Amino acid sequence: MTEPTSTAPEPTVATIASLSQHEGQTVTLRGWLYNIRSSGKLLFPTFRDGTGTIQGIVPKAAVSEEVFETLKNLQLESSLTVTGKVRADSRAPSGYELDVENIHVISAVSPNEPFPITLKEHGVDFLMEHRHLWLRTPRQSAILRVRATIMRAASEYFDTNGFIRTDPPILTPNACEGTSELFEMDYFDDGKAYLTQSGQLYIEATALALGKVYSFGPTFRAEKSKTRRHLTEFWMIEPEVAHLELDGLLELAENFISHIVMRVLEQHRADLKVIGRDVSKLETIKAPFPRVSYDEAHAMLEDAFAKGLIENRHKEGDDFGSPDETYISSQFDRPVMIHRYPAAIKAFYMQPDPADPTKALCVDVLAPEGYGEIIGGSQRVDSYDLLKQRIDDHNLPLAAFQWYLDLRKYGSVPHAGFGMGIERAVAWICGLDHVRETIPFARTLNRIYP
Ligand code: 4AD
Ligand code: MG
Repeated sequence: MTEPTSTAPEPTVATIASLSQHEGQTVTLRGWLYNIRSSGKLLFPTFRDGTGTIQGIVPKAAVSEEVFETLKNLQLESSLTVTGKVRADSRAPSGYELDVENIHVISAVSPNEPFPITLKEHGVDFLMEHRHLWLRTPRQSAILRVRATIMRAASEYFDTNGFIRTDPPILTPNACEGTSELFEMDYFDDGKAYLTQSGQLYIEATALALGKVYSFGPTFRAEKSKTRRHLTEFWMIEPEVAHLELDGLLELAENFISHIVMRVLEQHRADLKVIGRDVSKLETIKAPFPRVSYDEAHAMLEDAFAKGLIENRHKEGDDFGSPDETYISSQFDRPVMIHRYPAAIKAFYMQPDPADPTKALCVDVLAPEGYGEIIGGSQRVDSYDLLKQRIDDHNLPLAAFQWYLDLRKYGSVPHAGFGMGIERAVAWICGLDHVRETIPFARTLNRIYP
C-alpha cells in the first residue's frame, strides 16, 4: 500500500474568458505566449488561450530562478501552461491580471526560427500567405468568434421559427444563378458536374414538401471579380417558404437580420472592441427596415447626381454599382431593402410584378455604411408556362430543368426565399474592409494557399 501524499490540490484549469469567476484564486491556463516585455527584474508576458488574452506580472523575486529565466528567453507563440493568481485590475483590457507563480513549457519555438508574425505592421499578402498563423492574433480570433455566433444565430432563427433544414447537393448538373460563374469538373460517364452556386432550386423542392425550409452550406462562384466583397467559395444560408409572397419575404429578412445583430451585441461586446467596431452603428439595427423600390432608388440617385453628391449618373434599367449602393445605404441607419428591380437584369426564376411585369418581385438588402448587398431573394415564378418560357428565353437546357418545372406541374403555390452570404454579413457586422478576414481560409481569384 502506498502512503497518501499530502501535496496541495492542483489549481483549477481555467480559460481566460472565464477568469471573472476565479478572482483571487490560483488557476492554471493552457495557452501560448503572445507577447512579452521586460523591465529589469519584472516580466510582463501576455498569454492567449483562444478565448482571450491576459497580461501576467512576474517579479524576479516572486518565482524560481528557473521560471524567470525560462520565461524571459521564451519565443513568442511557444505553448505553455501558466499557473498564477487572478487579480482584478481596472486598467487591464480584460479587467484582470495574472500574478504568475509557475509555468510549464509544452513546446518551445526555436529562436532560430521565430514566429513570423510580429506585432509590427505586415502587408496583406504576407499575412494571407501566413493565414494559418495570422489566425492566432487577437483581432482575427475575435472575428472568427463573431462569425461562429452569426452562423449559430442565423440557424437558430430558422430552427426556432418552424423551418426544417434541408441540405441541397453541392455537386450539380447545371447552373442556378448564371452559367459563366461555374466551377466545372468531370463526373464519370455523365459528363460534367458543377459546384453549386446556390441551393435555391433544390430547396424550392423541399419547401413544397415541408413548407418552411432552409439550407446552409458552402457555395462556389468562379467569378473573375477581384473586389473586397467577392470570394470564390463562401457560405450561404437560404430560407425558402411555400405560400410566401414578396411582402412576407421582406418581413422575414428584416427579422432575421435583427435577430443576428441582437445576438452578436449580446455575446460579443469584448470581441467587437478588439476588432475596433463602433457598436452604436449596430444598436440601431432593429426591424422594420426601410423599403425602397428600384424606381425610387433610381430617383434618389438622379437627385444626388444633380446635387453633385455622386460622380457617375445611374442609367435607368441598369443594376446599381458599388458607389450607387453606398450612396443609397448612407441615407439610412439600418439595412435598406430595395425591391422590384427590372426583370431583365435579374434571374430567370423571379416572379414578375403583376402591377408592372417589366419588374421582378425581388429584393436586395443593402447593409449600411457602404457594405453593399448582403441578401438577394425573390418570389419565384409559380406558373408552369411562364417558367418554361423563361428557361427558353435564357437559353437554358430544358431537359436539365425538367424536375424544376415539375414543381409547377404538381400543386404549384406562390413561394419565396432569399440567400444571405455569411462573409458579407460578417464583414458588415465586424466593420471589416475586406471579406478575406471573415472566413478562416479565404478562396479568392488569386489565392488558394494555404
Ligand atoms: O444574390 P445571390 O446571387 O442570390 C442567390 O444565389 C439566390 N439564389 C439566393 C436565394 O434566393 N435563395 O447571392 C446571395 C447572397 C448575396 O446577397 C451575397 O451576400 C452572397 O450571397 N454572395 C457572395 N458572397 C461572397 N462572395 C461572392 N462572390 C458572393 N456572391 C453572392
Ligand atoms: Mg444578388
